[in-house]
Amino acid sequence: MELQQLVDRIAAEVMPGGASADYIPALARVDARRFGMAVATLDGEVSGAGEYRQPFSIQSISKAFTLALAVGDELWERVGREPSGSPFNSLVQLETENGIPRNPFINAGALVVTDHLGPGASDRLLAFLREESGNDTIGIDEEVAKSELDHGDRNRALAHFMASYGNMRNPVDMVLHEYVRQCSIAMSCADLAKSALFLARHGVRNDGERLLGVSGAKRVNAVMLTCGTYDAAGQFAYRVGLPGKSGVGGGIVAVVPGRCAICVWGPGLDARGNSVAGVDALDRFTTLTGWSVF
Ligand code: DON
Repeated sequence: MELQQLVDRIAAEVMPGGASADYIPALARVDARRFGMAVATLDGEVSGAGEYRQPFSIQSISKAFTLALAVGDELWERVGREPSGSPFNSLVQLETENGIPRNPFINAGALVVTDHLGPGASDRLLAFLREESGNDTIGIDEEVAKSELDHGDRNRALAHFMASYGNMRNPVDMVLHEYVRQCSIAMSCADLAKSALFLARHGVRNDGERLLGVSGAKRVNAVMLTCGTYDAAGQFAYRVGLPGKSGVGGGIVAVVPGRCAICVWGPGLDARGNSVAGVDALDRFTTLTGWSVF
């Protein structure tokens, strides 16, 4: 089956469900039944269905890209790479684990990655995403950023707690500012799928330059598989069988190494903060194509 026919079929059959994120008011207002899906193949061709050109709040999908920009031996001294089995904004493990977050995709871990990138982290991320997607209009949704800062007590607590263990190098306010801006970037499924292609190309960007070595790309993909959907990572691997990174805006990016990158958007979330339609669509995709890492 052609990819275009495949995404059209999935868009027609997908089962939406869940509710939009309610703890960030600007996200709670988005209709949970919207849907888009895009598949970008290694040559940059995009097949899309539904609202695949509609920008949405990328939220924690940003964490896959910031990890790729920051990854290296030094980072792994400050953050682990084991699944947490806990909600994405949980505080509990930090106390018994000396302020070292379990992995770079829970909020505590992503705050460390942002701290590691330092001042200007969100501008670097934005520049990278614009270059990979070829879309200069990608920007930050200021309403979402403000809403998130106004309701950011949990992230502020996580950052201060880690600072008390010496695991923050920059002032907490600066790190939170950069983190919130990263999460508040608005992008479409088409642009996200194109931007994730370096992970399908074993580290090579769309212009042929290398962002990561082969091992580096393998490592980012491995952490996405084991930790990218938080305390549902086991269920996601079971149903979809691909490295994936979700966000509470309802997007999920998934990677088929050597073939393509996929982005699905459906704002209705399950109890763990993952898109219900997004997981369903990716489950259908790997079932219909047989393209999984297993
Ligand atoms: O920090 C937060 O809570 C949000 N900006 C991002 C959380 C998120 O997307 C978790 N994803 N499923």
